[in-house]
Amino acid sequence: MILGKTSPTDVNLHPMKYKWAYELYNQAVRNSWFPHEIALGEDLADWKSMTSDERFAVQFLMSFFNPAELIVNRTLALGVYPYLKSPECHLYLAKQMFEEANHCVAFEYVLETFPLDRSKVYDTHLELPSMQRKEAFINQYLTRMTEQSLDIETTEGKKDFIRNLVAYNIVMEGIWFYSGFMVALSFRQRNQLRNFGSLINWVLRDESLHLKFGIQLIHTVLEENAELLTAEFAEEIRNIIIEGVDLEVNYNKDMFPKGILGLNADYVNQYVQYVADRRLEELGLEAHFGVTNPAKWMSTATDVFELVNFFEQQNTSYEVDAHGHKGEKKDLPAQTGDKKEE
Ligand SMILES: [Fe+2]
Ligand SMILES: [Fe+2]
Repeated sequence: MILGKTSPTDVNLHPMKYKWAYELYNQAVRNSWFPHEIALGEDLADWKSMTSDERFAVQFLMSFFNPAELIVNRTLALGVYPYLKSPECHLYLAKQMFEEANHCVAFEYVLETFPLDRSKVYDTHLELPSMQRKEAFINQYLTRMTEQSLDIETTEGKKDFIRNLVAYNIVMEGIWFYSGFMVALSFRQRNQLRNFGSLINWVLRDESLHLKFGIQLIHTVLEENAELLTAEFAEEIRNIIIEGVDLEVNYNKDMFPKGILGLNADYVNQYVQYVADRRLEELGLEAHFGVTNPAKWMSTATDVFELVNFFEQQNTSYEVDAHGHKGEKKDLPAQTGDKKEE
């Protein structure tokens, strides 16, 4: 059983039961990167030529993303790691937690580089209702995971684990973050903020693995606990995802009071609905929104050749092998979600 109270044998890596978790750990190690490997300062010229609405969209994204990375880490530490018995899952979670810290610092680097009002950026998620509601949605499930009354060996405890997992992994990492990535990468799509785009691309590559881990974990818990497989619980999971989409729709209206070149709230929200349908299907549930992908370019965004920074003679796309050697980028594992529409 993957869920439960740990026993002394749960720190033995072999015999290994959940090889998928170990494979994801090794892939995550190969994907290692550091924010300052990207010369973000080169984007400052673009920044100066951007409109105030475009700059506002970038600032808005940072306001949500920066604290969100640390919320994910808290969720992993308090709501996921303590309830898993598998050492290979613990390895993966340790790497994911480093990655979320790395993402937080990467967004710090964005704040250091662009002339943004940091106090405004940090206050927004505490003050803006549409952002507060997103955080409250995640925190309600996390709070439950830290209550003394939660017993992971009961059906209700296992349901609480799945609810929390669906909220932070499927909704936050798998839908809300993709919505933000699409907005961020749309600048590069118009040949602006290309280094920022590379940074987002690396974050996206990590997040696609986080999503794979979460989805695999949900499937494993459901397979091992047949009592959870009821129509009622499936409907509850579905409703958590649909509520997450509603929260994102309102948040995007605040990000785009007027819309910017090639992008407005309706366009982004159709993408949000499209991605949410893919997530529902990945969980074995029926699609809900039935919309087409308005941002087909996103499905190839992670495959495009990364920018080569000639000034530092450094290619921004590489994988580090298990021994720490950097090399040319090999094929990435299939991304979850965005490549499925063909
Ligand atoms: Fe992250
Ligand atoms: Fe993540």
